[in-house]
Amino acid sequence: MATEQEMRDRFGRPLKDLRVSVTDRCNFRCGYCMPEEIFGPDYPFMEKSRILTFAEIVRLVRLFTALGVDKVRITGGEPLLRPKLPELIADLRTNEAVRDIALTTNGSLLARQARDLKSAGLDRVTVSLDSLDDERFGRMNGRGFPVTSVLEGIEKAIRAGLGVKINMVVQRGVNDQDILPMARYFKEKKLELRFIEFMDVGNTNGWRMDSVVPSREIIARLAEELPLVPSEKLRFGEVAEAYHYVDDGTKVGFISSVTQAFCSTCTRSRLSADGKLYTCLFSGNGTDLREPMRGGASDEELLDKIRDVWRNREDRYSEIRGANTASVRKIEMSQIGG
Ligand code: GTP
Ligand code: 5AD
Ligand code: SF4
Ligand code: SF4
Repeated sequence: MATEQEMRDRFGRPLKDLRVSVTDRCNFRCGYCMPEEIFGPDYPFMEKSRILTFAEIVRLVRLFTALGVDKVRITGGEPLLRPKLPELIADLRTNEAVRDIALTTNGSLLARQARDLKSAGLDRVTVSLDSLDDERFGRMNGRGFPVTSVLEGIEKAIRAGLGVKINMVVQRGVNDQDILPMARYFKEKKLELRFIEFMDVGNTNGWRMDSVVPSREIIARLAEELPLVPSEKLRFGEVAEAYHYVDDGTKVGFISSVTQAFCSTCTRSRLSADGKLYTCLFSGNGTDLREPMRGGASDEELLDKIRDVWRNREDRYSEIRGANTASVRKIEMSQIGG
């Protein structure tokens, strides 16, 4: 399918990235994403029949690449819980318009899957890790899962030849004491660590501004021990501000969605596991593509739907966050994978 002329939304932003959630389930219960009190044994996760098949995902990705997408990220929940995921990666790899296939994971199942994912054609993984302290990490992931297993997953991913980045969500009073130990550890390993400001995603994580540690503060704390400088100007559509350490050049990034919103260059769309298209991480509702597809819609009809959604897009939640947005009902993070 040929790529057509670049399509822009209401603020002139092109559609470049697609983040595909392959399951809304997760084996962790991070308080900032799926707090145990809400996501308990009776939580109504998506039924299997509502979840897109690999063939459906591959078809939709082809439509998105025809409209300009060249970067695909697989997310969850925890995407490695989806059976036979390497088969999906291999199918997506046959789409030549896809320049980059990445995956966001909590790392718990990575050690065993890294090689198969790489062989299937995955380019890189982003592993979430919020602390190197077992007790704190176990509490934060809600399941007592040990740090060493995640570190083992990271090692296996490197050995398999995957690109690796680490994401750490920082919450004041929860894991801000881990900022320096994490920075030291991943600098030593020469891996890029990105510090993420705790966001008010979903409806259940009890977000408060006082829990956010602004990136400026993190940079100042790091600079006392590990001098660092900005690397380059932000590339269009990039979420992390890139820095590197002065002595060895290792990269380190800052994702400041709360204190320095980056909506003006947001080129991201998100597909939930049940086939709804969301044009913002903070959207209240998505556009269903699954039912039209299962009802026999042609490629052209589906393309029209996606074009219509993107051309009318006006999202800029992080820029307008405030009193009037606090009570708005939003999609849960675990359904669109961050
Ligand atoms: P790279 O291609 O490796 O740069 O990936 P990325 O930074 O685009 O994606 P990643 O999933 O690693 O993003 C890291 C985190 O940044 C996510 O888990 C979210 O917390 C946050 N984030 C990513 N995209 C957006 C966005 O569009 N809006 C907001 N507000 N936050 C985002
Ligand atoms: N704030 C910031 N980032 C979050 N993530 C999940 N919930 C939040 C939140 N409340 C991100 C984390 C995790 C990814 C799956 O989503 O980076 O690594
Ligand atoms: Fe699971 Fe990731 Fe959400 Fe934690 S942040 S509960 S690991 S999906
Ligand atoms: Fe994009 Fe919405 Fe995030 Fe702004 S808040 S950067 S529009 S996903």
